[in-house]
Amino acid sequence: MNADLVIHNGQIVHPDGIVDASIAIHDGQILAIGAPDAMPTATETFDAGGLHILPGAIDVHVHFRDPGYTHKEDWDTGSAAAAFGGVTTVFDMPNTVPATANASALSDKHAIASSRARVDYGLYGFLGEDTIANVPEMVAGGVIGFKLYMGETFGRLPTPSTGAMLEAFEIVAPTGKRISLHAETASIMARREARMRNAGRTDPLAHLAARPAIVAVEAVSRAAILAEWTGARIHILHISSAEELRPLAEAKARGVDITGETCPHYLFLSADDYDRCGGVIRVNPPVREARNQQPLWQALTSGVLDIVATDHAPHTPPEKTRNDIWTVDCGFPGVETQMSLMLSALPLRHASICDYVRWSAYNPARIWGLAPKKGAIQVGADADLAIVDLGREMVLDDAALQSRSKISPWHGRRVKGLPIHTLVRGRFIMRDRILQDGTQGWGRSVHTIQSMPAARPRNTDATMEAIVRF
Ligand code: DOR
Ligand code: ZN
Repeated sequence: MNADLVIHNGQIVHPDGIVDASIAIHDGQILAIGAPDAMPTATETFDAGGLHILPGAIDVHVHFRDPGYTHKEDWDTGSAAAAFGGVTTVFDMPNTVPATANASALSDKHAIASSRARVDYGLYGFLGEDTIANVPEMVAGGVIGFKLYMGETFGRLPTPSTGAMLEAFEIVAPTGKRISLHAETASIMARREARMRNAGRTDPLAHLAARPAIVAVEAVSRAAILAEWTGARIHILHISSAEELRPLAEAKARGVDITGETCPHYLFLSADDYDRCGGVIRVNPPVREARNQQPLWQALTSGVLDIVATDHAPHTPPEKTRNDIWTVDCGFPGVETQMSLMLSALPLRHASICDYVRWSAYNPARIWGLAPKKGAIQVGADADLAIVDLGREMVLDDAALQSRSKISPWHGRRVKGLPIHTLVRGRFIMRDRILQDGTQGWGRSVHTIQSMPAARPRNTDATMEAIVRF
C-alpha cells in the first residue's frame, strides 16, 4: 500500500522507551513503523531529524467556552491553542451557556465543535441536582463522560447535594462512563469566604485562605466512598494538595475505579507567586504552598496520580485584574503551554520524557477507553503526533498566545522544549509553528471510538430506582 506521508529520522517516544524509526501514515492512521528502507512509497516524506515524536497530548480538562462566553474563547481559538501546545485531543467542560446538560445543548455543542475544531474532542455532560434524569439522552447524544461540580466555580452552576450526587453515581455507573469531579466542598468554602468578606479581606491570598486543602480532601474522600458504593468510575480533576493523595491512594488500593489528575500550575506555582501575579493566579482549586509541589511530582512518578491536564480556563484581562479578589474570574489559559513547561522540568524532577507521554497521552487514552486508537504511536492507531524540539528555548509571552485569553501567570517564564509540528489523524494542523489553513472543522468527536470496559455497578438493589419499584 502507498502511504500518504512517511516521517523519517525522528525519535519516537513510547511510555517505556525511545525508538529511532520511520513512521508511515495512510488515511490518518499509522500504517507502519520501522527502518527507513522498510517503509512503503509515499506521496510526501518529512524529515524529523533532531526531533522527538510524541503521541499528541490528550488534555482531558479544557474550557473552550463555546457557546456562551466566546469573548473569552471559542472552538477555533481554543483548538488553535491546542495545536500550538502539541495537544491533539481535548475534553471540553460543560460550564458553557447553555450548560451541556441535556440532549439539545449537547447536540448544539457538537454542531459548533465539529464545524470549528482543529483537534479531536470529547464533550462532557453536566450532572447537576436537576439534570440527573438527562443522563440517558446525553449518553445517546455522545458524551465522553460526565462532570460534577462539588463546589461552585466559574459559571455558578449550583452544586448538587450529596443525595443527588449518590443518585447521579447510581445512574451513571451502569453506563460505564467516567464521572470527572471538581472535588471542593461548597459549604466549607462558602462559609469561610463569607466570613472573610465581612472582615474586609479582598487580597489575593484570601482566595487561598477560603479554600484550604481540607476543602478538597473532604470532597475527594466523599466522592471515593460514593464511587465505591455504587461502582461508578470517577476521575478527580485538578488535584492541588499533598493531602488529597492519601484518600486517592487508599481508594485505589481498595479497588475503587478512581483516577487522579494534576495541572502545571500546581506543579510550578506556589503561594509565593500571589504577590507577583495578583488576581491573575486566582484559580479553583487555588495554587497552594510550595511544600505541595514535590509530593505531587512524586505521585505522578509513582502512579498515584495518572494524568497531567491543564484546566485551560481562559478569561479576558479586565476579568482577571479587578482589585477585589472575590470579583476576579477564576482560571487562565494552559493548553498551549503545558507541554513546554513539563518538558522543561523533567530533568529537575528525575522524570523522563517517557513518563511524560504516560501522563499526557497514554493514560488519558486508557482511562477513557480511547486506546489503542489514541494515546500511543503504534500501527493501527490514529496518527496524532506532537513533533518536538527538546533543545528549543522560548520565553512564554501572553501576547503571542493563540488563545483569545492573553493573560496568564506563565508570562515571562523561560522554557526549553517546544512542539514544532502537530498532526491530527495524519494531517498537519501546525507546521513549523504556523497554524495550517483550512484545518477548522478537521476535529472529530472521539466518543464514537470510545470503548469502556464492562460496567460494574454495585449495590444495585439499594438504588433510588430499585427502592421505588419494590
Ligand atoms: O478556576 C477555575 N476556572 N476552576 C474551575 O473549575 C472552572 C474554571 C472556569 O471554568 O473558569
Ligand atoms: Zn476546570
